[in-house]
Amino acid sequence: MRRRVGVLLSGRGSNLGALLAASRAADYPAEIVLVLSNRAEAPGLELARAAGVEARAIGQRGFGGDRAAHEAALIAALTAAGVELVCLAGYMRKLSPLLVGRYAGRMLNIHPSLLPAFPGLETHARALAAGVKLHGCTVHLVTEALDEGPILAQAAVPVLDDDTAERLAARVLAQEHLLYPAALAALAGRQSVPAAAAAALHNPLPLTPAAA
Ligand code: GRF
Repeated sequence: MRRRVGVLLSGRGSNLGALLAASRAADYPAEIVLVLSNRAEAPGLELARAAGVEARAIGQRGFGGDRAAHEAALIAALTAAGVELVCLAGYMRKLSPLLVGRYAGRMLNIHPSLLPAFPGLETHARALAAGVKLHGCTVHLVTEALDEGPILAQAAVPVLDDDTAERLAARVLAQEHLLYPAALAALAGRQSVPAAAAAALHNPLPLTPAAA
């Protein structure tokens, strides 16, 4: 039985694309059954539809700034689709305890830095400014604190002397597209998701320095 996965996004959806591509393999332990966006114009919605996956925009505006009501609508859609695991893939909206609590231990996020370094935005420019020699991406479980949940997997890339934020971002993004499907598979391929999350924490995927 493949785990039913919902993806939340706000933008282009390249990580969604990587998850969709991975899930085409017959032995991949998860399938993307629903994509939701808080922005109707998110290109990721079209990407999902082109792949034959149900995709819907549920904007916050209709809820007059009531975050809990907006999240209740997301939860209703995810529940109706039988979603077991949720992947945040560039979902640019702060989550309240309602959504986080509903999917505790079952909600993943991908962040473009080696957490706990550089939580938040503009991670590539901040990594360059800090002069770090390794940068990368992290898949972690989502908790109420922003970008602070338990780390499931990381991939590292070198920072080169002549890097710009754009070049560094592209090098990291290529690793995101490998790491996210691998981390999701590691979690989804177990009998019980909480047990899998615990196992992944004790036995994380290797931190792999990738070629430039
Ligand atoms: C990625 O860099 C991801 O790490 C971050 O948001 C970005 C989403 O990119 N959370 P995309 O929409 O998947 O292309």
